[in-house]
Amino acid sequence: MWPPCRIRCALKSAAASLRSRGASASPRRSSGNAAAFMPEAAGFPAGVSGRDALRDFSVADGDGFWAAVARHRLHWIRPFRRVQDCDLSRGRISWFEGGELNVSVNCLDRHVHTCPERVALIWERDERGSEVRYTYRELLEMTCRVGNLLRRHGVKKGDCVTIYMPTCPLAVASMLACARIGAAHNVVFAGFSAEALAERIRDAESSTVITVNQGVRAGKVSELKRTVDAAVQSCPTVRQVFVAMRTDSPVAMTAMDIPMDEEMLKEDAVCEPAAMDSEDVLFLLYTSGSTGKPKGLVHTQAGYLLYAALTHRYVFSYHDGDVFGCVADIGWITGHSYAVYGPLANGGTTVLFESTPVYPDPGRYWDMVERLKINQFYGAPTAIRLLIKYGDQWVKKYDRSSLKTLGSVGEPINTEAWEWYHRVVGEKRCPVVDTWWQTETGGICIAPKPSDPDAEIVPGMAMRPFFGIKPVLMDAEGKVLTSNNVSGALCMAQPWPGMARTIHNHHQRFIETYCQPYPGYFFTGDGAYRSEEGYYQITGRLDDVINVSGHRIGTAEIEDVVNKCPEVAESAVIGYSHNIKGQGVYAFVVLKKGVEVQEADLSKQLSNMVSEKIAKYACPDFIQFVKRLPKTRSGKIMRRVLRKVVECDLDGLGDLSTLDDPAAVQEIIEDHEKLLRK
Ligand code: WTA
Repeated sequence: MWPPCRIRCALKSAAASLRSRGASASPRRSSGNAAAFMPEAAGFPAGVSGRDALRDFSVADGDGFWAAVARHRLHWIRPFRRVQDCDLSRGRISWFEGGELNVSVNCLDRHVHTCPERVALIWERDERGSEVRYTYRELLEMTCRVGNLLRRHGVKKGDCVTIYMPTCPLAVASMLACARIGAAHNVVFAGFSAEALAERIRDAESSTVITVNQGVRAGKVSELKRTVDAAVQSCPTVRQVFVAMRTDSPVAMTAMDIPMDEEMLKEDAVCEPAAMDSEDVLFLLYTSGSTGKPKGLVHTQAGYLLYAALTHRYVFSYHDGDVFGCVADIGWITGHSYAVYGPLANGGTTVLFESTPVYPDPGRYWDMVERLKINQFYGAPTAIRLLIKYGDQWVKKYDRSSLKTLGSVGEPINTEAWEWYHRVVGEKRCPVVDTWWQTETGGICIAPKPSDPDAEIVPGMAMRPFFGIKPVLMDAEGKVLTSNNVSGALCMAQPWPGMARTIHNHHQRFIETYCQPYPGYFFTGDGAYRSEEGYYQITGRLDDVINVSGHRIGTAEIEDVVNKCPEVAESAVIGYSHNIKGQGVYAFVVLKKGVEVQEADLSKQLSNMVSEKIAKYACPDFIQFVKRLPKTRSGKIMRRVLRKVVECDLDGLGDLSTLDDPAAVQEIIEDHEKLLRK
């Protein structure tokens, strides 16, 4: 069906550069050991051998390190002139200036040239046992067709395409097609509501949306196209919606809609890649902050791709021929960096997981590991905690001998979950890497690996900074804590290529959020502890962002929705420890004077509102109606106090003397106890 692949300029130049790379390799100066681990190390000064020495060198001579890695690991259309030009105090971040490249050529064409029949994607569809494999040749063809389709419909370099799709090969091809023609993509998690989608489309100023007729997850069908229809009503910028078919059910098409599968067949399977500057935008990805408005973090071409590729290779010890199983949805940064860009840049085989850990039964992950022979499995602690409850038999039923590394991401992994993952899933054979990072960091910044093969791994600790990463901890006065066995605000003292460059259309907010709290440093929003040995352990967010089942959400976003209810005067939303979800959502709600309602009815109504305006996962687990909220005399809600109440830590309530009305707290405590007893 598909026409045979013709080799075009991009392929030829990729091949030429691959050949010349060998010819121009730097003279060997350092020990063979390090070079065997990391080929670039051959050009590093003598003595840079071993993982620790490499890490030290990467921080001490960041320019030398990243220049060598960028030249070696990326295919450039034009070489870069300058490694970096960054000033963290002003929020200026620029890497590999003067360089030109195409991300899709790096992820596809160069592998098609060397190994066209290697499997690029394994789509683990929701329906168990119906996986579909796509080779690099097939994925390139699909990407080219989408690229040509978008171009024919007027999508140009610099435009931003919103992708609202489940995790599937066409979503990956759509991301790569944007990259191929120079458009940015904005993937919106397909669990978001029409309103949340509309807000992201409007903010990204997208004129094109790509979606599917229906999504399928855990056997349930969701009407994604209908959600897009509702969203675009309030998006005047949208001109066209491409609709692919995930199921056989036809959907009503509007004048704006274009049937994607059919139209792709009309396109040429070769698409000229655009030459992109290193700092052109690759994608926007919306994430939650401490205000009610999600922020569109901006990632650019070369630095992001390089960082995703390098971390994928070294944190997970990914080798050619391995099957990499990251079960994150492509709607989150983990899906971007470790289901798509990192593995594909490395010529790897990557799994796209469409289902859930318990569908059709709690053996789903391990059945998949056996069937697809997954070598690296990368998932979230919340899923691990859920699976522990179902018992070890669901794991042991399946052959997991292919597994070599287990990864954890998105939230702190408690020791019990870590031990179970290590002992039961990995049979104590596989290192467990607890990886700390964020949408903002683009890729993993702290993880136990890379480290020397016999180096210790401490359960529940992210431990070691990655190459080029220099974490620091700050005290309450903003001074760097230099000793060990201390806790503080986690900042980065140096820029790295994978970091976000700005917030779309809000550079000032970027500067205020990340650069101003500790001038000269990048502030992560997390707190961390540094152990006696110098290892890092993340202690949690320092702002009003919570993490529900690994999904990041700002409490202010939920409050904004709750406060829109006509009966509500004000509210305060707090995260509390939840034994499966990591954190649950607890809402304190004050009703307007004179309002008479059934609390149960209103609770239901508020939950529906949150689900409609944001997403289901953001719905409160508990809603407590209170007469008033504890406030300071200047009118600020004392969230610290509310947090202690929901955590049942009454001894830790602290100093209440600054409260406007201390009796409010006593009432809240009593009602909280009643609610728990219900
Ligand atoms: C949290 C997900 C503890 C952290 C990749 C961070 C973690 C936020 C870990 C980013 C970890 C992520 N241990 N906490 N290993 N990984 N977090 O942007 O609070 O969705 O700031 O990126 O998740 O969430 P995001």
